[in-house]
Amino acid sequence: KILKRIKTVDAAPTDGEVAIKGWVRTVRKQKTLAFVEVNDGSSLSGIQCVLPFDDIDEASKKEIDNLSTGCSVEVVGKIVESQGKQKYEVQSSNLRIVGECPADTYPLAKKRHSLEYLRTIAHLRPRTNTVAAVARVRSVLAGSIHQFFQDTGFVYVQTPLITASDCEGAGEMFRVTTLDLDNVGELPMKKDEDGKTLAGVDYEEDFFGKPAFLTVSGQLGGETHACALGDIYTFGPTFRAENSQTTRHLAEFNMVEPEMAFADLNSAMDNAENMLKYVVGEALKKCDEDLTFFSKFYDKGLKERLEKVVKKPFVRCSYRDAIKYLQEEIAKDPSKWQFPDVEFGTDLATEHERWLAETKFNSCVFVYNYPKKIKAFYMRDNDEDGGETVNAMDLLVPGVGELVGGSQREDRLDVLLEKMSELDLDPEDYWWYLDLRRFGSVPHAGYGLGFERLVCYVTSVENIREAIAFPRYPGNAEF
Ligand code: 4AD
Ligand code: MG
Repeated sequence: KILKRIKTVDAAPTDGEVAIKGWVRTVRKQKTLAFVEVNDGSSLSGIQCVLPFDDIDEASKKEIDNLSTGCSVEVVGKIVESQGKQKYEVQSSNLRIVGECPADTYPLAKKRHSLEYLRTIAHLRPRTNTVAAVARVRSVLAGSIHQFFQDTGFVYVQTPLITASDCEGAGEMFRVTTLDLDNVGELPMKKDEDGKTLAGVDYEEDFFGKPAFLTVSGQLGGETHACALGDIYTFGPTFRAENSQTTRHLAEFNMVEPEMAFADLNSAMDNAENMLKYVVGEALKKCDEDLTFFSKFYDKGLKERLEKVVKKPFVRCSYRDAIKYLQEEIAKDPSKWQFPDVEFGTDLATEHERWLAETKFNSCVFVYNYPKKIKAFYMRDNDEDGGETVNAMDLLVPGVGELVGGSQREDRLDVLLEKMSELDLDPEDYWWYLDLRRFGSVPHAGYGLGFERLVCYVTSVENIREAIAFPRYPGNAEF
């Protein structure tokens, strides 16, 4: 007998007996038969197994007495058309419990649980509809991202997680140390002139003698390869030691970072738009059952919104215009805003980003040419703009806010050195990065897409803690 995944039952019913292996969702016993709904994770819907007591062996009958929600089982039978809400069911001849599941202690008894509760049992929550559906959509999105870049000639590069460089300069790096902190005695910390320990814990010895951190972005390493291979992308974990308890931030998240040589800011925006259109299109094609579920239970307009992403060009709006639109709107009723003071130089808050994407444009929108003073050191100065802005862009999307951040990189050695000195960055720490500008420098650009935010956007789950299997946020590193 063939092992059948529930997902394929619909597509190709077979004549002979098949085996289904999965976990019991519900059991209903009647006088002459039992109904057991089994889910194997391949699909949102489980399959109903009908077990007529007259047609099954003694052992199966005994097993039914011990069955409860959560048991793992193997059911053998014929797939037949069903009169019920599903198209097919299993006319079963045999059932065996593979692993028992005591009903009185199983944390996922058959009822609806809150997403907050499910986070406390992250090892079991993929057995629920929402979390399983997110996992399947997430997997398709990851595959499609690789497919898009592979199909368009990008080389996949894996950049290190342990590094000494702080790409974003925001001081959000986790320290990695080989020091035996329990036995080190007084830590060899850097002190100021008065002998006071400097903030930011600067051990003098660390990763076998040198400081080391977890990377906040693969970009700098990515640039080295773009400046040799042309078009590259990275896709992997990044870390931010920020103490934020929001629905959009994780301490460990995954970033997709393409980097393109001989490219400017517009190429980066074009690439981000094409990539998103492709991966959202693939999700619509391959995850219809799961997206229908999210439309039904989370956001009625979801599928329509995603179809629009594929079909309609994204809006592009300069930062200066965005500020103007926000000021006009806020002036109507400042009391409605948490951050009503908006002017050139303001780092947009989520409420501003969401208003632009959801209300003003009702579309994905690129905001570009940000003020230099709120952006990272590596972004290329906009010479024609009085030196006030850089070639940076953020992609803002309805429901999430910032999904992508990118820029054209400063490729002129003298300008970059000047920018670094303004920010007090030591050129010696970045000697290899500066070499790229010394030896065959080219205009180049790239961006970073927060993968978990994409998962939120495509599934409409609100909290990023549902978008990743084991979310890391302040105070949570269990599992
Ligand atoms: O805007 P960010 O900080 O940009 C960079 O790191 C650049 N070096 C990327 C590049 O140009 N190669 O981060 C990029 C994206 C954000 O737009 C957001 O979607 C996501 O990464 N992101 C986070 N996602 C979850 N939790 C966090 N703490 C995040 N911080 C950023
Ligand atoms: Mg950003």
